[in-house]
Amino acid sequence: MSAETQTQRCGRFITLEGGEGVGKTTNVGFVCDWLSARGLEVVRTREPGGTPGAEAIRELLLDPSRDAPWCDDAELLLVFAARAQHLAEQIRPALARGAWVVCDRFTDATFAYQGGGRGVARERIETLEQLVQQSLQPDLTLLLDVPVALAAERVSGRGAPLDRFEQEQSTFFESVRQAYLERAARSERFAVIDARPDLETVQQAIGDCLRERVAAWS
Ligand code: TMP
Repeated sequence: MSAETQTQRCGRFITLEGGEGVGKTTNVGFVCDWLSARGLEVVRTREPGGTPGAEAIRELLLDPSRDAPWCDDAELLLVFAARAQHLAEQIRPALARGAWVVCDRFTDATFAYQGGGRGVARERIETLEQLVQQSLQPDLTLLLDVPVALAAERVSGRGAPLDRFEQEQSTFFESVRQAYLERAARSERFAVIDARPDLETVQQAIGDCLRERVAAWS
């Protein structure tokens, strides 16, 4: 643990990641309930967003009705602007008072979507990561993994209007998935959860993972 981590953080930081249609939002709720049932203070949040300012940036990023698309650098900077605000206003204060933060996406999504999907160089993302986060990293990242074709079926089954990212082609999502899996293979912080089966089976796997990790931290 870094000096900053030791002095300023008491709570734990858990993130959920994956492409569209992997069941992230439902399972963020499951993780929060699992932790709350053990008497922990839990802060549920999401990216881009989590604070009024960052949610306003989210609208800019996701709005499919924009006349012109964002250039890759503008998109990257908007994502990190939202993250800087979210960290300052919500995540760091919560961790400092001992709360457990459960976040629907974080910087791994930037490496997957802007890096893998858009082709932004990893070094550019790492520079902003260092600027905005310093040494702060999630303690655990649950990567929910589903083949792109199945995920696309689930998204279209919702029948909801598609946002700017959801309107991308399957090649974009194949690159996003690959980038996530490559990152997960390089770090023990990740647990890859096979999110193809029914919800009960997926949540059993998430619960097993939480039990193991939380026990190792205490
Ligand atoms: P959500 O609808 O799953 O909450 O995610 C919003 C979209 O934002 C999703 O399509 C992924 C995208 N996104 C990025 O492109 N980069 C990021 O860093 C984050 C956090 C999300």
